[in-house]
Amino acid sequence: IFIFPIYLPYMLLIKNASQLLTLAGGIKKEDYELGIIENGAVLIEGEKIVEIGSTKELKGSADKEIDASSKVVMPGFVDPHTHLVFSGTRENELYMKLQGKTYLEILKMGGGILRTVRATRNASKEALIKESMRRLDYMLVNGTTTAEAKSGYGLNYEDERKILEVINDIKHPIDLVPTFLGAHALPPEFKKSGEHIEYMKKIIPKIAPLAKFIDIFCEKGVFNCEESKEYLDEGKKYGLVPKIHADEIEDIGCTKVAVEVGAISADHLVKTSDENIELMAKKGIIAVFLPATPYMLLSKEYARARKFIEMGIPVALATDLNPNAYTESMQMVISLAITQMHMLPEEAIAASTINAAAAIGMKDKIGSLEKGKQADLIILDAKNYQQIGYHFGVNLVEKVIKKGKLVWS
Ligand code: NIG
Ligand code: FE
Repeated sequence: IFIFPIYLPYMLLIKNASQLLTLAGGIKKEDYELGIIENGAVLIEGEKIVEIGSTKELKGSADKEIDASSKVVMPGFVDPHTHLVFSGTRENELYMKLQGKTYLEILKMGGGILRTVRATRNASKEALIKESMRRLDYMLVNGTTTAEAKSGYGLNYEDERKILEVINDIKHPIDLVPTFLGAHALPPEFKKSGEHIEYMKKIIPKIAPLAKFIDIFCEKGVFNCEESKEYLDEGKKYGLVPKIHADEIEDIGCTKVAVEVGAISADHLVKTSDENIELMAKKGIIAVFLPATPYMLLSKEYARARKFIEMGIPVALATDLNPNAYTESMQMVISLAITQMHMLPEEAIAASTINAAAAIGMKDKIGSLEKGKQADLIILDAKNYQQIGYHFGVNLVEKVIKKGKLVWS
């Protein structure tokens, strides 16, 4: 007789959650409903969610059960904008900022991004993996289960390739989505921004297989709108989806470029004019806010989240993790979004899960707790979701489940 080996997938039941946030409504434009189930439970089989409901409804035998009494259970945070791979830090620049130097002044002096470019060019792949792994551990412990990661500290073919290989090769429970940011600053080997764009356009065909998105720092004194459009259009030819750093310091019309090229998201948006917000609204471009950046630039000015939400634009939040704004914590970002941008807790939570997943083109797989979706979820020491961002400066995440496995406790 032939006996076929039967594969028995591992079953995990999480039960008794005081609030289970499903975020099942998808991207909500007007009302950011969290899909709350009181006394909720999730049944996971292998890497996927097979059932979700109240603890009473969800009977059945699991190999392992986790009791989530008095806890909030929700989708793992998705961080849709990070500069994960870089060498060295820049705490020295805090003193310059405290003396009133601006971000672009520090960059012009060869500091800022350019300082990190020098260090990253000199770093081996192994060294970059080691530094990035440490940051990924911080991210995981703080509840992030998927993140976008940009290149951008190489700025030449070899080093941009090296960074993207790190992003692709790294082995960590957090899933990474790679973005090519070849136009992050003007490196010393070129005099004019246009020359760098020409060079980047030449390397795009060779780099494109390593990335999903293409991004540029569109800003006064960095890369202008024409250059941004040219570069992003070239990326599209090779299958890359455009993203853009827009209106961080000035509105020079970068959101118009986002609209023209059909970007999936425009990020920063601190200075975006009403007119350009309206333009974004018409095209359904996702707005990604990065409040850790103005915070670390010692600025009082944040993106006008209320205006974007009023206009019906789906909004997401991200850390922007980089040596200027050095945080891995989406909980910190949520707290800043609430206190500095006046986002409601429910808006900030949707912006950090389902909308963040949408900003990296992954909302069908992650970002909410629904039957058939990947079992990426976190258990927080919070009685209700309003405590996230309110109970601040500490890590509320107690357990992280990635693809059905308990990866941190
Ligand atoms: O999104 N502003 C441009 N790029 C990054 C910062 C990179 C850096 O300062 O190293 C950002 O804020
Ligand atoms: Fe950034």
